[in-house]
Amino acid sequence: MIRKIESLLDEVKAFVPKGLAEVEEFRIRMLGKKGAITALFDEFKTASAEQKRELGQAMNRLKTAAVEKINDLKARLEELAFASSDASSLALDMTRPAGADRVGARHPISLVRNRILEIFGRIGFVPAEGPEIEDDWHVFTALNFPPEHPARDMQDTFFVEKGPDVLLRTHTSSIQVRVMQTQQPPIRVICPGRVFRNEAISYRAHCIFHQAEGLYIDQNVSFADLKQTILYFAKEMFGEKSEIRMRPSYFPFTEPSTEVDVSCNLCGGKGCAVCKHTGWLEIMGAGMVDPNVLAACGIDSSKYSGFAFGMGVERIAMLKYGVKDLRLYFENDLRFLRQFTPVL
Ligand code: PHE
Repeated sequence: MIRKIESLLDEVKAFVPKGLAEVEEFRIRMLGKKGAITALFDEFKTASAEQKRELGQAMNRLKTAAVEKINDLKARLEELAFASSDASSLALDMTRPAGADRVGARHPISLVRNRILEIFGRIGFVPAEGPEIEDDWHVFTALNFPPEHPARDMQDTFFVEKGPDVLLRTHTSSIQVRVMQTQQPPIRVICPGRVFRNEAISYRAHCIFHQAEGLYIDQNVSFADLKQTILYFAKEMFGEKSEIRMRPSYFPFTEPSTEVDVSCNLCGGKGCAVCKHTGWLEIMGAGMVDPNVLAACGIDSSKYSGFAFGMGVERIAMLKYGVKDLRLYFENDLRFLRQFTPVL
């Protein structure tokens, strides 16, 4: 009897139907009143109590396999028939409840960007946007990049059309230039957007990514204001216990310039693989707006001063969600995208 069960199980596994009708025939042959499996259950009643244990398990396995296979084949074939709207070939029950649609989810980059906007919005930073296709002046010249600065190099910047003057912005600082050109201080803006750099794509670099940059210009704005603003952001984004440290750096458009690190929220500063055992994670560049930039944009640098900061949204998302491969953010694989809930 056990051999009979096994040979039936093989038959179930091997069964490939040509259509729905064959599936139904198969069901009757296996599970119908006079079907092979039904007959086995009758035979089972006559087996000895010892045999029953082993046989019972095998038979249950066989029955489950047959039921699952038949249901699965039916569902798939019905779907196919429905897709080709060959409604005549199946008895469609229009009163059956419809499957629930899955509601979409926000992209993790949008979630983090929205959170950044919300944190800065609470202290008066208003969102500002600008064009992705820019000119040299807004991306480099107005921001105090010397003519021979390597960032203008063909290797970094994507140029559009023939002229060297139409390009894809390499950072969102160009938005700040546009804001300064059209508004007088006090200015307090946060500028999110997509930026483009001619980089080979790998798990840690991409030719498209997102930034969010802040700009604050008023009378008597000092480096202390910058420090407190960023400390506030770090605590809101990474937790109340977060600390920041600033390392001297260089950007053409800020003086002095700094690179900002936040204490690693995974190891609490003790050192782990994510912070490369330093206890610190780099999160943004910042500095006091260079007077040359203010002057280029029509703001009186003897009266006003300001600070600017800029961060990569992917970088923050990576730290918040522990995603190590940047490319995942651009593949739009639903299995990846469905995992994210808003960051708090
Ligand atoms: N624009 C800089 C970059 O893309 C970041 C930055 C913004 C640095 C503002 C300082 C001040 O790297």
